Order: sequence, then C-alpha cells, then structure tokens
Amino acid sequence: MLHSTASRVPPLLAAVLLLPVFALAQTAPKNPTNASAGATATQQKAASKTDAASNYAGSEACKTCHAAEYKSWEDSPHWKTTLDTKQGPSHEGCEACHGAAASHVSDPTDISKLFLFEKASPKDIDARCLECHAGGTEHMNTLHSVHGENGVSCISCHSPHHATQAQFLLVKAQPDLCYTCHLAKKAEFEMPFHHRVNEGLIKCTDCHNPHGTEGPKQVRMASTQDAVCFKCHTDKQGPFVYEHAAVKVDGCESCHMVHGGPNPHMLKVSNVNLLCLQCHTTSSFSSAPGAPSFHNQATFFQACTLCHVAIHGSNFSSTFFQ
Ligand code: HEC
Ligand code: HEC
Ligand code: HEC
Ligand code: HEC
Ligand code: HEC
Ligand code: HEC
Ligand code: HEC
Ligand code: HEC
Ligand code: HEC
Ligand code: HEC
Repeated sequence: MLHSTASRVPPLLAAVLLLPVFALAQTAPKNPTNASAGATATQQKAASKTDAASNYAGSEACKTCHAAEYKSWEDSPHWKTTLDTKQGPSHEGCEACHGAAASHVSDPTDISKLFLFEKASPKDIDARCLECHAGGTEHMNTLHSVHGENGVSCISCHSPHHATQAQFLLVKAQPDLCYTCHLAKKAEFEMPFHHRVNEGLIKCTDCHNPHGTEGPKQVRMASTQDAVCFKCHTDKQGPFVYEHAAVKVDGCESCHMVHGGPNPHMLKVSNVNLLCLQCHTTSSFSSAPGAPSFHNQATFFQACTLCHVAIHGSNFSSTFFQ
C-alpha cells in the first residue's frame, strides 16, 4: 500500500504525506485483517476504544475476489482515503463506501451489512458520499438541489468503478452526460447562433453547478457574485457612468437567449426594434405629433442600435451613443 502510494505522488509531496502514515503505522495494528479474523476476547477488550474496527477487514482483503473493483479504486483518487487514518477504518478504502465488511470476508454470501449502491435510495447514496464531500462549498447544496430533489444522486453522474472520464470520475463526458436526461437542450445548442458547447469550447458547468446553487436554475455566480455571464463577458459588466437599467436590473436574459437561438447575437427576437419596444413605449417612435423625427419609425426603418450603439452601458452618453 505504502509502495503504491509513493509511486503516484511526486517525491516531495510523498515525503510530506507519508510522514503521518509512518507514524501511525507504528502504533496501529499492522494487519487489520488478522485483528478481525483471529482476535481473542482480551484483544477485543483492549481495542474497545476502536471496537467497531474489528468489523472492518481493510481493502487488501477484497483484492483477491474483487480484482476489477480493486483496480478501479486503486487507479482513482479514492485510494487517498487510506492516507487519512484519523477517522478510522470506517472512512478508509472500500469500506468507506460499502460499510463494514469483515463478516462478508469470512462468509462471502453474507452481504447483509454491506451498503449496496444499486439498492440504496438516492438520498441515502448522497448522504454516504457527502460524509466526506460535504466539506467544500460545492456539494453542500446537492441534497436540496433540483437534482437532489428529483432523485438524481451522485452516482447518476459519477461512478467510482466504471467512470469513462478519469477526471472527476464522470459516467460520461460533458455535454453528453447532461444530454442523457436533458436531450431537449441539445437542439438549443444546434441553433444558428449558440454558445459552442457541443463543439467543446464551453461546458454546461461553466454556467451551471449540477450540485445546486443558491439561485434558481442551478446557475452559477461569477467570482464577483454577479451574473454568471460576466465571468467571460467582462466588458459588459461596467460599472458604467450610464447604465442601461435593462442590463443591470432585468439581466442579460431579458434580451438574449442563454443557450442559443435563431437570431444574430442570440437575441430573443429577430427584429432589434421590437425587442426595444417591449419596454420602451411605441408612441415615441410613431409619426404622432411631438415624436422626434429621428425616432419616426413610420418614415423608414432604422435599427435602434444604429444610433444607440453602446447598448450595454456607456461612460460617455446617457443615451448610449458611444
Ligand atoms: C472470498 C471472496 C470475497 C472477498 C474476500 C470479498 N468478497 Fe465481496 N463478494 C464476494 C461474492 C462471491 C459476492 C457475491 C455475493 C452474493 O451476491 O451473494 C460479493 C459481493 C460483494 C458486494 C455486493 C456486490 C453487488 O453486486 O451488489 C460488495 C459491495 C462487496 N462484495 C464488497 C466487498 C468488499 C468491500 C470486500 C473487502 C472488504 C469484499 N467484498 C471481500 C466475494 C468476496
Ligand atoms: C467512493 C465510494 C466507493 C469506494 C471507495 C468503493 N466502491 Fe465499490 N461501489 C461504489 C458504487 C457507487 C458502486 C455502484 C457502481 C458504480 O457506480 O460504480 C459500487 C459497486 C461495487 C461492486 C458491485 C459490482 C460493480 O462493479 O458495480 C463491488 C463488488 C464493489 N463495489 C466492491 C468494491 C471494492 C472491493 C472496493 C475497494 C477496492 C470498492 N468497491 C470501493 C462505491 C465505492
Ligand atoms: C447531474 C450530475 C452530477 C451530480 C448529480 C453530482 N455531480 Fe459531482 N460533478 C459533476 C460534474 C459534471 C463535475 C465536473 C465539474 C466541472 O467540470 O467543473 C463534478 C465534480 C465533482 C467533484 C470534483 C470537483 C469538485 O468540485 O470538488 C466532486 C468531488 C463531486 N462532483 C462530488 C459529487 C458528490 C459527492 C455528489 C452527490 C452528493 C455529486 N458530485 C453529484 C456532476 C454531478
Ligand atoms: C471516506 C471519504 C470519501 C467517501 C465516502 C467518498 N469520497 Fe470521493 N473522494 C474522497 C477523497 C479523499 C478524494 C480525493 C480528493 C483529492 O484528490 O484531493 C475524493 C475524490 C472524489 C472525486 C473527485 C475526483 C477527481 O478527479 O477530482 C469525486 C468525483 C468523488 N470523490 C465522488 C465521490 C462519490 C460519488 C462518492 C459516493 C459514491 C464518494 N466520492 C465517496 C473521499 C471520499
Ligand atoms: C452560457 C451559460 C450557459 C451554458 C453554457 C449552459 N446554460 Fe443552461 N442555463 C443558463 C442560464 C442563465 C439559465 C437560466 C435561464 C432562465 O432563467 O430563463 C439556464 C437554464 C437551463 C435549464 C433550465 C431552464 C430550461 O431552459 O429548461 C436547463 C435544464 C439547462 N439550462 C441545462 C443546460 C445544459 C444541459 C447545458 C449544457 C448542454 C447548459 N444548460 C449550458 C446558462 C447556461
Ligand atoms: C440522471 C438524469 C440527469 C442528468 C445526468 C442531469 N440532469 Fe439536470 N435535471 C434532471 C432532472 C430530473 C431535473 C429536474 C426536472 C427538470 O427540470 O427537468 C434536472 C434539472 C436541471 C436543471 C434545471 C434546474 C431548475 O431549477 O429548473 C438544470 C440547469 C440542470 N438539470 C442541469 C444539468 C447539467 C448541467 C447536467 C450535466 C452536468 C445535468 N443536469 C445532468 C436530471 C438529470
Ligand atoms: C436591452 C437589451 C440587452 C441586454 C439586457 C443585454 N444585451 Fe447584449 N446585446 C443586445 C443587442 C441589441 C446586441 C446587438 C448589438 C448590435 O446589433 O450591435 C447585443 C450584443 C451582445 C453581444 C455581442 C456583441 C458585443 O457587443 O460583444 C454580447 C457578447 C452580448 N450582447 C452580451 C450580453 C451580456 C453578457 C449581457 C448581460 C450582462 C447582455 N448582453 C445584456 C442587447 C442586450
Ligand atoms: C465560459 C465563458 C462564457 C460564459 C460564462 C458566457 N459566455 Fe457568452 N460567449 C462566450 C464565447 C466564447 C462566445 C463567442 C461565441 C462563439 O463564437 O462561440 C460567446 C458569445 C455570446 C453571445 C453572442 C455574441 C455574438 O456576437 O453573436 C452572446 C449574446 C452571449 N455570449 C451572451 C451570454 C450570456 C447572456 C451569458 C450568461 C447567461 C454568457 N454569454 C455567458 C463565452 C461565455
Ligand atoms: C427589459 C426592458 C428593456 C429593454 C428590452 C430595453 N430597454 Fe432601454 N431602458 C430600459 C429601462 C428600464 C431604462 C431606464 C428607464 C428610463 O430612463 O426610461 C432604459 C433606458 C434606455 C435609454 C436611456 C433613456 C434615457 O432617458 O436616458 C435608452 C437610449 C434605451 N434604453 C435604449 C434602448 C434600446 C435601443 C433598446 C433595444 C436595443 C432597449 N433600450 C431595450 C428598459 C429596457
Ligand atoms: C437615427 C438615430 C436614432 C435611432 C435609429 C433611434 N434613436 Fe433613440 N434617440 C436618438 C436621439 C438623437 C435621441 C435623443 C438624445 C438626447 O436627447 O440627447 C434619442 C433618445 C432616445 C431615448 C431617450 C429619450 C426618449 O425619447 O425616451 C430612448 C429611450 C430611445 N432613444 C430609444 C430608441 C429606440 C427604442 C429606438 C428604436 C426603435 C431608437 N431610439 C432609435 C437617436 C436615435
């Protein structure tokens, strides 16, 4: 085990990581399998503090019978659970996920104490994984996320043993992973004007956090806690001396499709003017008396953005001319 540890980690890091392991190795029983198999009553009493430890067999005990699962575990970041021995055998190796397996090792037909993912409810699966993954802010929301609420558990997207993507142990690569259930979204990214998600330039998870978010639709915030769009379109963020309230208050979605659409610039409507007139009153753009000539749409059609160029906000013109 220590040997395989060293082979995966750069020498300096390995030295740092192994120090506590060596220290512990001297005090902990050398072979946890022996401890559980042939322990006498006195030995068990002496170990009463770690009583439950005797219910655990250790990952090495599984190797011979479950070679494939052992290999996939050994090749995944989950082998690292054996580095943190502070929490005891219930948090190490195979048994961190499958539960105490000593009785199963002595009688392979006894699977009564094992945690069987195929049979467990999505909530129980999430809870099991979150025993270790609740620490970061990322996954905390999962239980209460739209995914969590709809029975989409960790292993709908991640697979400890059968991942096709080594990174993040994903069942499938994006965006196909998401299209398994959100096939309708695929068409949106095939529209004439779209974010290049299918082409691999942008990922669903650039904008969404599938583990849940504070806000609606599992949409991420930019690092500035602003709309996710500013993460990449920083030039639209301002601050501008003259903000367009539509951008600041209603958000990008008031004018743009977010995934893709049939109109240039992914605008919600094909005619820019109709877009503007959804909020600005039509009367000022007619031939009605008092309407300024430059706004007379009856005379001839001009795109509003021909004159109001800096539509996202301006530092120079309150009417967004530049
Ligand atoms: C002596 C061989 C042997 C050893 C050692 C062994 N297993 Fe098993 N295991 C089996 C067999 C056989 C089955 C199928 C039992 C059945 O379905 O009745 C099984 C089933 C399982 C299952 C359920 C699989 C399913 O399809 O749902 C899990 C999980 C499991 N073992 C985990 C472990 C872990 C963890 C260890 C080590 C702590 C371990 N096993 C050690 C032979 C073994
Ligand atoms: C991070 C949690 C985790 C760890 C660690 C883990 N497993 Fe699993 N195991 C699972 C999940 C989840 C499944 C269900 C299949 C899947 O999603 O990959 C599973 C399925 C299995 C099965 C059923 C057959 C199969 O491949 O689907 C066996 C047997 C098994 N694990 C044995 C082991 C053994 C042996 C180890 C240690 C070498 C181990 N597991 C470590 C989570 C884990
Ligand atoms: C709907 C799919 C989905 C579900 C459900 C899901 N994940 Fe993820 N998870 C992902 C994707 C996709 C990534 C990769 C994120 C990226 O590319 O930025 C990821 C990344 C991760 C990572 C590595 C990156 C990080 O943020 O630390 C961990 C750990 C993780 N998920 C754990 C979990 C756990 C635990 C659960 C269940 C409580 C879960 N995930 C549920 C899709 C999902
Ligand atoms: C005993 C603690 C523990 C449990 C239980 C556990 N994990 Fe992990 N998980 C870890 C550790 C440790 C890492 C490695 C973190 C690192 O590399 O810094 C990890 C890494 C991951 C990663 C990231 C892989 C990558 O490429 O970055 C994913 C995804 C993940 N786990 C999913 C799961 C899922 C799904 C479950 C439940 C089936 C689960 N984990 C159960 C401890 C655990
Ligand atoms: C450029 C950012 C961005 C990308 C990339 C993106 N989304 Fe979205 N998505 C959003 C925003 C913003 C909303 C919220 C729109 C709203 O509130 O009307 C949303 C809404 C959704 C919704 C819920 C509303 C609906 O339309 O049904 C789903 C489902 C969804 N996205 C799935 C996906 C999937 C799957 C992918 C990848 C294939 C993806 N998204 C990629 C920004 C994005
Ligand atoms: C196993 C199926 C499954 C997978 C895989 C999956 N989702 Fe979902 N997703 C759902 C279900 C079920 C819902 C809730 C019902 C609905 O809105 O369609 C949902 C809802 C959503 C929503 C809408 C949230 C809301 O508030 O309306 C977004 C956004 C989303 N998923 C994004 C993603 C992304 C991104 C991925 C890939 C990383 C993904 N999903 C993978 C099943 C899945
Ligand atoms: C009031 C409606 C409106 C709002 C709100 C809006 N846009 Fe626009 N956006 C437009 C129009 C109209 C165009 C096309 C401009 C043209 O034809 O010259 C455009 C063009 C763009 C373009 C491509 C051209 C360029 O200037 O780079 C991007 C990128 C863009 N918008 C991003 C955003 C983002 C990000 C947000 C939210 C911060 C946003 N837009 C909010 C109306 C809007
Ligand atoms: C991860 C980075 C990223 C995020 C986040 C992002 N975009 Fe984009 N966006 C791009 C890139 C890159 C392009 C260039 C399009 C291309 O050629 O693929 C683009 C193009 C656009 C365009 C079309 C520009 C044109 O000239 O036609 C609009 C409009 C737009 N984005 C709006 C948004 C909105 C609204 C959001 C938030 C919901 C958003 N973007 C979030 C990267 C991003
Ligand atoms: C979602 C609603 C909405 C849309 C769509 C919208 N606007 Fe606005 N716009 C506003 C609001 C609200 C204000 C600020 C209130 C005001 O001064 O009337 C504003 C202010 C303005 C101003 C400055 C007004 C002033 O008195 O200084 C101009 C110019 C303007 N918009 C042009 C446009 C153009 C051109 C379009 C189309 C590309 C457009 N707007 C689309 C809501 C919108
Ligand atoms: C030929 C250039 C031109 C076009 C095209 C144009 N505008 Fe204007 N717009 C102006 C001028 C000039 C002003 C007045 C600026 C000032 O008072 O400083 C103005 C002022 C405005 C104002 C603020 C004053 C008011 O009347 O409320 C709004 C809002 C506005 N325009 C919206 C629009 C919309 C919406 C369209 C498209 C239907 C449009 N404009 C098309 C030149 C134009």
